[in-house]
Amino acid sequence: MKPTEIEDIIDGLLSQHNKESSSPLIPVLQAIQNQQGFLSDESLRLVSDKTGASLSRVYGVATFYHQFRLRPEGKHKISICRGTACHVAGATDLYKQLVKELDLSPGEDTSTDGLFTLQEVRCLGACSLAPVVKVDETVYGKMTAKKLQEILDQYREEQQ
Ligand code: FES
Repeated sequence: MKPTEIEDIIDGLLSQHNKESSSPLIPVLQAIQNQQGFLSDESLRLVSDKTGASLSRVYGVATFYHQFRLRPEGKHKISICRGTACHVAGATDLYKQLVKELDLSPGEDTSTDGLFTLQEVRCLGACSLAPVVKVDETVYGKMTAKKLQEILDQYREEQQ
């Protein structure tokens, strides 16, 4: 996304919010993220310049709300179910395996190679197949550590 396009979004929203006299930061950040999928450093600086909010305040808002991402999403989205049935069937160990395998630091959800984004979900609606992991639109039931490793390897191989 070009800086001028980001500026257009900001200008458009600011003109509305000047009339409403409410804080424009959240809607401005939402609009930018909707367009480019995440909030780049450049876009946060532009928001700071245009709104007059300090850069630290803009970063503070962007990092406080879980809806905002400071990195693009990975190519594949992995959803691990942490619902009751999956929890009882061993989802916690699978979650730990994924965090380790994707080398995620606390607070990060996307692998540094940009291949995977990990998210926890409450129930994938396939409790009889617990534990359940979904990659993009494919649901994998009766998951084991070995199967999970094979699935990750398969996606990585496809990438090469
Ligand atoms: S609790 Fe995991 S699919 Fe329902």
